[in-house]
Amino acid sequence: MTTIDAQAAVAPLDFAVTRNLAAASPARVAEVLENPGFGVVFTDHMVDICWSLKGGWHRPRVQPYGPIPLDPAASVLHYGQEIFEGIKAYRHADGSIHTFRPDRNAARLQASARRLALPELPTEYFVESLRQLIAVDGRWVPSGADQSLYLRPFMFAKEAFLGVRAAQKVAYYVIASPAGAYFTGGVKPVRIWLSEKHSRAGRGGTGKAKTGGNYASSLLPQALASSKGCDQVVFLNEKNDVEELGGMNVVFVFKDGRIVTPESDSILDGITRDSLLQLAEDRGYTVERRAISIDEWREGVASGDITEVFACGTAAVVTPIGALVGEGFDEPQPIGELALSLREELTDIQYGRREDRHGWLLRLDA
Ligand code: PLP
Ligand code: COI
Repeated sequence: MTTIDAQAAVAPLDFAVTRNLAAASPARVAEVLENPGFGVVFTDHMVDICWSLKGGWHRPRVQPYGPIPLDPAASVLHYGQEIFEGIKAYRHADGSIHTFRPDRNAARLQASARRLALPELPTEYFVESLRQLIAVDGRWVPSGADQSLYLRPFMFAKEAFLGVRAAQKVAYYVIASPAGAYFTGGVKPVRIWLSEKHSRAGRGGTGKAKTGGNYASSLLPQALASSKGCDQVVFLNEKNDVEELGGMNVVFVFKDGRIVTPESDSILDGITRDSLLQLAEDRGYTVERRAISIDEWREGVASGDITEVFACGTAAVVTPIGALVGEGFDEPQPIGELALSLREELTDIQYGRREDRHGWLLRLDA
């Protein structure tokens, strides 16, 4: 594992840029941006930076989007040593392009790297990798309501070696995909399946890291959820405390003005959640980050103490939870106004429609 300190001053990277000669036509870009969906179409370029134990971070490139050459023995294919991030670029009314709290995504990628024994990408390199991609693919940032360019930085072990140890050769990439609503149908309350049989992560495991394996383990319960007519799964820990959904954090609103969200070593520290809770605190709500059991959830809804439950994350932003479904029950959830009001405030900041009083935005195209 590397001992590189991600916060230390780093030498600037000199990116070699190779333009995509087969880039999409303006008509094709316009057609995609009309109705981008989520994660289906990718921009013309990608960024990549190599890392080796001997050479550190090197060979920064912007190159045409396309298949990645990979040795069949690359350890990511066998042992899953991989991490990723999700962050968006937003177009403001004046045409400028901004991203949201990239320092937090950089820090989380570094934390994920430590857990997965991957090298830490310095924050400056992370931010510069986003700037480089926007410099060539800025035209792919949509300007429609609730649209954005979803940026997907990721890092994996590419060393061709079947011994089980941390890889000594690693690749970091950023790809981008224009995004509309994550759930088809836009913002409408989702139905959540309570996964009692499968968990996503365990104590001391990798649940706090953004690593592919966590998502792999969520796929079977997610498929089960779909078969039960649900949009997403909610996972519990071994003590029956609520953890999170497959790709979103969960927040509970109480009628006395408290907002409770799970605190645990095995869930992702969501940047959307942190930001929404900051906005709620600014409005005078009291935020409690603590364990909340599935019994407290169900009893709180039954008694009327819980007035709203919502899910949040970069891809889905804020989505009210409309029903909690499990073996033998289907419980409607109260729908309040806070989730959508916080969603509006957050997206107003992200799209430059409201003052960025916390200094969360970073302009990428200048
Ligand atoms: N939890 C999981 C498992 C996620 O995949 C995500 C999405 O990134 C989140 C929570 C929310 O995190 P963020 O708000 O930083 O996107
Ligand atoms: C995100 O919100 O960025 C995520 O990573 C969630 C999902 C698309 C995996």
